[in-house]
Amino acid sequence: MSERLAINGGNSLVPEGIEKPWPIITQDDIDAVTGVLKRGELWGPEATEKTALEKEWAEYCGVKHCIVTNSGTSAMHACVAGVGVETGDEVIVPAFTFWATAQAVLCQNAIPVFVDIEPVGYNIDPAKIEEKITDRTKAIIVVHAHGLPCDMDEINAVAKKHGLKVLEDAAHAHGAVYKGKKTGNLGDMGMFSLNGTKNLPGGEGGFVTTNDPDYYEKARLTCMFGEKTVPKENIRPYDAYTMGNNYRPVEMTCAFVRSQLKRLDEYNAKRLVNVKYLSDELGKIDGIITPVDPPDRTNAYHIYRLMLDPRAAGYPDIDPGDFRWAVQNALFAEGVPVMEWHSFPVPGQSIFKKLDAYGKGCPWNCGHARQGIKYDSNDYPETQKMFAASFVLYNMYASNGLELMKYYVDAFHKVFDSLDDIATDPKYYKRVRASV
Ligand SMILES: Cc1ncc(COP(=O)(O)O)c(C=O)c1O
Repeated sequence: MSERLAINGGNSLVPEGIEKPWPIITQDDIDAVTGVLKRGELWGPEATEKTALEKEWAEYCGVKHCIVTNSGTSAMHACVAGVGVETGDEVIVPAFTFWATAQAVLCQNAIPVFVDIEPVGYNIDPAKIEEKITDRTKAIIVVHAHGLPCDMDEINAVAKKHGLKVLEDAAHAHGAVYKGKKTGNLGDMGMFSLNGTKNLPGGEGGFVTTNDPDYYEKARLTCMFGEKTVPKENIRPYDAYTMGNNYRPVEMTCAFVRSQLKRLDEYNAKRLVNVKYLSDELGKIDGIITPVDPPDRTNAYHIYRLMLDPRAAGYPDIDPGDFRWAVQNALFAEGVPVMEWHSFPVPGQSIFKKLDAYGKGCPWNCGHARQGIKYDSNDYPETQKMFAASFVLYNMYASNGLELMKYYVDAFHKVFDSLDDIATDPKYYKRVRASV
């Protein structure tokens, strides 16, 4: 007889409170931050920690230039501005991403045009890009979703054919590798997030990367009020050349990230050990589809997503969405942190239904924009299918080890051994807990 599920009043399998939080903060990190406070240099376009971090991250990615910013969102905007996207231009964006990717396009008064994902890695489908290109298209933003590098050869080939720039949203992909090259060095410009959840955490912050000196200069203007930065010893002319913002980071963050960067590879490797164990073990359970990484790339696994297949689990008549919620709710009750990471395509968000970002319908009704652009979630069936039938599993980051992963695997077995108790009863199909 299988054990009673926690969702039905049994004991939760995973002991409470055994998971350790991310990020891992060491004495070295604390010393790095307090060192800044003791020195008293807290900010500046060419401040010590910022400049050093820019050099170190450029070296890490193998690019010529880096700018540290105060968020990934601001870094993404600086990339879009950096390659010269202007009012009315169109930029290709995957339908599956965090909306900041598309927002960066709107920040330039340009128009995001969405493309569906491919069903295995959940990244933008290169085969579906060309049909969305118009005479207004200026750039393609690829998102290395969850940490898996996109099909860059195919994407760069389409971009080259149509004279488009390629921007990487590598918010999830610090240290991920595609054919021997790091993310951030796979297109014209790259962006990273340093938000506290990320593989390289800084609380908040971001990076811009590029090999192109002109894009670098334009991105720097965007991060610095539209003004050119001048060496410390020169007088600042206070002369704005273009629209810009204050996207500068503080020195405490830069020092913390520099300290964390020393351990990024070690932590990414630990994540891979956890993920490999999970995939090896969970892959043995009928009805669970574990992530597949092509052999030519290394996934940074910021997020670990599992797809469910009710047919393979023995429930061919149950809707994949219902099956997923039944399993997710049962696992959650067992103490497994299975969650959503978004739940519908970005073009389904309200701003794209209203077609209004700045009031009065701007930028869609701007005279420079192609008229008649509309968005409909149903145009992105692979993204919808992914959301319906999958969830993500947290805590596989480097703070935790195989002991915790083993509890999670045992909990999956417990639930899958008792599927008859939950899979066919609609009372378990409720969307109960949306996200962390
Ligand atoms: C794919 C993606 N792009 C952009 C961002 C924005 O980064 P930030 O939160 O640092 O502004 C995020 C944030 O998590 C993200 O997941």
